[in-house]
Amino acid sequence: MEYLLGIDIGTSGCKSILIDSKGEAAGSALKEYPLSTPRAGWAEQEPADWWAAVTGGIAELLKKTGVSAGDIRGVGLSGQMHGLVALDKHDEVIRPAILWNDQRTTEQCGLILKKAGGLSGLLKLTNNQMLPGYTAGKLLWLRANEPENYEKMTHFLNPKDYIRMRLTGETATEVSDASGTGLFDVEHRTWSVKLLSLLDIPLSLLPSCHESAEITGRITRKTAELTGLPEGLPVAGGGGDAVIQTTGMGLIRSGVLGTIIGTSGIAAMGLSGYHPNREGLLQVFCNNTPSTWHVMGVTLNAGGAYRWFRDAFGEMEKKKAEETGGDVYALMDRAAEGVPPGSKGLIFLPYLTGERCPYTDPAARGAFIGLGLHHGKPEITRSVLEGVVFSLRDVYALIHGMDGSVTEIRTSGGGSLSPLWRQIQADVFQSPVITVSGSGEGGAYGAALVAGAGVGVWSSVDDAIGVLKKETETIPNPDNKNIYEDMYNIYHSLYGALKPVYRDLSALDNS
Ligand code: XUL
Repeated sequence: MEYLLGIDIGTSGCKSILIDSKGEAAGSALKEYPLSTPRAGWAEQEPADWWAAVTGGIAELLKKTGVSAGDIRGVGLSGQMHGLVALDKHDEVIRPAILWNDQRTTEQCGLILKKAGGLSGLLKLTNNQMLPGYTAGKLLWLRANEPENYEKMTHFLNPKDYIRMRLTGETATEVSDASGTGLFDVEHRTWSVKLLSLLDIPLSLLPSCHESAEITGRITRKTAELTGLPEGLPVAGGGGDAVIQTTGMGLIRSGVLGTIIGTSGIAAMGLSGYHPNREGLLQVFCNNTPSTWHVMGVTLNAGGAYRWFRDAFGEMEKKKAEETGGDVYALMDRAAEGVPPGSKGLIFLPYLTGERCPYTDPAARGAFIGLGLHHGKPEITRSVLEGVVFSLRDVYALIHGMDGSVTEIRTSGGGSLSPLWRQIQADVFQSPVITVSGSGEGGAYGAALVAGAGVGVWSSVDDAIGVLKKETETIPNPDNKNIYEDMYNIYHSLYGALKPVYRDLSALDNS
C-alpha cells in the first residue's frame, strides 16, 4: 500500500493525516499549541510550537496507524493563511508570527490602498481588497513599528511554508497561499512586481512561488533523523487552508458550491477560469491546480452563532444531554425540527461579532426580527439555523453573479453533521446538498490529495478528487421553496435597514 502524509498548521493545533491511494484515511493526529494576544486585537504564535507539533504529530501518527514510513510517497502542506513569519539570514525566526486574525494593520492597509491608486487600482494588481489580516499590512507594520526587526529580516514565509523550510531547507510557497499575502498578481499567478515596487518591498524578501502540486523540496537528513520520515521524500507545494480544504471537498472547477459551517461560515467555489473581483467583496485566489481559481466569502458567525445560542439559552438541553449521554445539538435540532420552515415569521441575523462578507462591518450585530408571543425556544432555535444559511446565501448571491450555474452544494464543517441544518441548506438553495468522505478532516486531507497528484499517485488534482465518495445526499423539498424565497428576501433587506442603528449602538460604550 502507498500512503500520503498531509499536515495542516491550524490556528489551535496541527493536524496530520495519512491517506492511502483510495483516499481512505489510515488515521490522524492532533497536537495543540497556544495563541498569545499581547495586546487587544493582536494574535501571535511561536513557529517553534508549530514545528514541535509537526514532529510530535508525525511520531504519534506513525505509531498509531502502524504505517511504515517507507510506504509514504509524499508530503503535502496546508496552513492558516496570511501569517507573517519573519526570518533572518540564518533562517532563524526574528519575532513571534503575526497571524491572520490579528487586527493591528488598519493604518497600513489604508496606506497600501492609497499607494495602489484606491480600490480599483489595487484590484487591477491583485484582484483582492486589502483585508487587515493579509500579510502585506503586517510587513508595513513591522517596518514602521519594529524597524530593527525589519532590518534583520532577509525573507518571510507564511505558516505552512515555515514548516516546509524546516522539513526541506527550501524557502518556497505556492500560488494559493501567495494569493492571500495581498502582494500576488492572482490573474497571472506571480508576485505583483508593480505593487512591491509601489510599497518599496524588495522581491528578494519573498519566497519562490510554485503551483500547488509541484514538488518544492525533499526531506533533509536532519529531519529524517528527527521524524523517521525517509530522507529525500518529496514535499509538494500544498495550499492555504481556506483553499485546500475546499479542494479536499472536490471544488476545483465551476459548478459546485461549497459551504463550510465551522465557527465561521464559508461559501466557496472553484473557478475554471479567471474572474475579476468587481467590487472586491469576495476573496479570489489561485486554486490548487494550474489554470483554475477559487472564490470565497467568509461570514464571521455560523456554527459559532449556534454555539452562542446553546451557551446562552441551552442550559436545560445541556443538562439533559449530560444525563442521557446524548448530544446537546441533536436535542436542540429535534425541537427545531417540529417548527415549520420560516420559523413562523421569525428571522435571525447572525452578525454577533460584526461581519466580513457580504458586508465588511465590525459594528454589525445579531438580531431577532419578528418576535411574537407565538414564538418559543423551538422557533427561536430554528431561526438561528435558518439565519446562518441565509447569510451563506448572501455570499452565494455574489459568487453567482461571478460565475452562475450551480448544480450541487457540498458541505462540510461541524454544522454539516446536522441533518436538519443540511435540509435547511437544501431548501434555501433549492439544490441537493452532499457530504463527501474526507471533508471532515479539513485542510490536511486536501494537502494529502494534492501531494498525491504531485508525486504521481494520481495524474492530476482533478484525478485525485475522483477518490471522494458521497456520504450523504439531502434532496430539496420544493414545497419549501416559496417560504424560504420570501424569508430570504426580507432577511437580505434587514442589514441596510439596521445599519444606522448599529452605528448608533457602537458609538455607546456598552460592552
Ligand atoms: C482565509 C482566512 C482563514 C485563515 C485561518 O482568508 O482568513 O481561513 O486561513 O484558517
